[in-house]
Amino acid sequence: MADRTGWAGRRVLVTGGAGFLGSALCHALGQAGAEVIALDAMLPGTGARRANLRGCGARLVVADLRDADLGSLCDRVDVLFNMAGQTSHAGSQKDPFGDLAINGHAQLRLIAALRQAAPGAVVVHASTRQFYGRPQRLPVDETHPIVPPDANGVSKFAAEQYWLLEHRVHGRPVTALRLTNCYGPRMRVMDARQTFLGIWIRRLLEGEAFEVWGGDQLRDFSYADDVVAAFLAAAESLLAGTGTAGRPFNLGGDAPMSLRHLAEALVTAGGSGRYVSREFPADRAAIDIGSYHADDGAFRAATGWAPRVGLRDGLRRTVDWFRPRLTEYLTEDETEGTTVR
Ligand SMILES: NC(=O)c1ccc[n+]([C@@H]2O[C@H](COP(=O)([O-])OP(=O)(O)OC[C@H]3O[C@@H](n4cnc5c(N)ncnc54)[C@H](O)[C@@H]3O)[C@@H](O)[C@H]2O)c1
Repeated sequence: MADRTGWAGRRVLVTGGAGFLGSALCHALGQAGAEVIALDAMLPGTGARRANLRGCGARLVVADLRDADLGSLCDRVDVLFNMAGQTSHAGSQKDPFGDLAINGHAQLRLIAALRQAAPGAVVVHASTRQFYGRPQRLPVDETHPIVPPDANGVSKFAAEQYWLLEHRVHGRPVTALRLTNCYGPRMRVMDARQTFLGIWIRRLLEGEAFEVWGGDQLRDFSYADDVVAAFLAAAESLLAGTGTAGRPFNLGGDAPMSLRHLAEALVTAGGSGRYVSREFPADRAAIDIGSYHADDGAFRAATGWAPRVGLRDGLRRTVDWFRPRLTEYLTEDETEGTTVR
């Protein structure tokens, strides 16, 4: 882990802070001595969970970017990690207006509030590889055409572009990280709403077979600790003014792997388990992106970041983390609507 001494006393806002990646960031920031506010609407169907923040020292503010008074939350913020988003691909096709309300309208509210309350804050925005669509070449670098395969891809591209526009027009230091499949402790495992890997891990730990749809698709995977290190490196680069402002960067992980090999690696990580192969369901095939892996050389060159956790090691760590906690992670977090420390 790089030297994180520069974070002590910094005021940091993490939107989506009770979710999978937001909470992982809150833990790292807490350890580095930052003053952390985790803003989260605790929306059902997401990775939001109070337990995710246990012991990290962040102050959880339950508030919705769509309607909360964001000015006071942005007040005196030094760094914003913007992790809140509507992430469901199938969900965005069913309810594109709801998807756009979070990834479009709410982002504009946050941009306006931050401009007013914290004009000097730097921003690292959680973007996605989803809007490249079905790759026209592999690996995918940042010059690849944008061809969103679903409404979520359209809205997430809009969100990223609104933030980068804020850099171009108002000079705010902003970087967007286009994430690939992320996994690790605190991910949503009760179903496949966050990632198919979540339900695979659940089934494995329950001693049941998990389903592999297709199997030949290549994917790359980022372990949560590596994602956190990338967000911190991106913010540190913005704070130091080293030329990353205004740029979107791909973030990848270990070498790509077919889903069939991934399934086998997961069974090995769990010590036992089994899977069954299935045809890709027709309704999902229409929005599936097929094989993908990122060329993240630009981000590595700009910041010195590189993933440190290989896929097999990351899978083992993830399974081991969930084994004693599975039951707790099989129900939605029901305690909505209050603010806690
Ligand atoms: N996990 C991945 O593999 C992955 C891949 C690509 C991109 N991303 C992006 O990374 C970010 C974090 O993803 P995650 O996997 O941690 O998801 P997550 O569902 O675990 O976390 C998102 C959090 O945002 C909160 N949220 C959503 N709308 C909100 C609103 N209007 N106001 C306040 N809070 C709100 C949710 O309650 C949830 O806790 C998202 O923007 C997502 O698009 C994630």
